[in-house]
Amino acid sequence: METLEGIKTRQSIRGFKPTPIPKDMINKILEAVSNTPSYTNTQPWEVAVVCGKKKDELSKVIFELARAKAPTHPDLPMPKGWPAAHDARAHEHGARRLDTLGIERGDEEGRERLRLMNFEFYGAPCAVFLFIDGSLGEWSTFDMGLFAQNFILAAHSLGVESVLQASVTNYAPEIKKFLGIPESKKLVIGISLGYPDEKAKLNNYRSIKQKPEEFTKWYE
Ligand SMILES: Cc1cc2nc3c(=O)[nH]c(=O)nc-3n(C[C@H](O)[C@H](O)[C@H](O)COP(=O)(O)O)c2cc1C
Repeated sequence: METLEGIKTRQSIRGFKPTPIPKDMINKILEAVSNTPSYTNTQPWEVAVVCGKKKDELSKVIFELARAKAPTHPDLPMPKGWPAAHDARAHEHGARRLDTLGIERGDEEGRERLRLMNFEFYGAPCAVFLFIDGSLGEWSTFDMGLFAQNFILAAHSLGVESVLQASVTNYAPEIKKFLGIPESKKLVIGISLGYPDEKAKLNNYRSIKQKPEEFTKWYE
């Protein structure tokens, strides 16, 4: 797939078929993504790929925590709020996802069902977790953003789709414990990975993007 086309056609997928992803395919993605740029070539990424039975077991652990509204301990602090324009976009995103599923604003049970889908990895056969060493700071987190974007674009170019998930990082200590990863590492993001389920209503949702002229100033 041509790069520009890949960037333009990628979208978050929130309903996957259970079809396993061949290991070779994931290795091909990882091999491509190893070429991600990083601050002084420090390559801070540490990747956990969790598939099959292991993924099911982990999903059970975090689903139960999320269902019980267990205390959350993300390694990267969650945003406490947004400036008005960003907040408006976030609200619109939330509202339009509810509309796609026909969930009314006041339907607390429906909203909760939508939230909990995160912890089932939206039915994906694999969940990928990106870690960095706990001693690293903001520039390494920036590098991880590049890595994550390269990862999802490389996957997309091979027909494997994804959604990035900050939500699952709420249970970072439990995920690290389950995977045998030292507490000192920071979980940056989770990624659900798989083949889109065309029947999943949520995959009809398309986010609204700003136009370049709304976020760009030219100086000539
Ligand atoms: C850092 C980050 C965290 C995200 N966390 C979640 C999440 O927890 N659950 C989810 O369903 N989508 C999550 N998303 C996906 C965004 O909602 C999505 O990228 C955005 O709405 C734009 O839609 P698009 O990816 O289809 O272009 C996250 C995206 C990013 C970049």
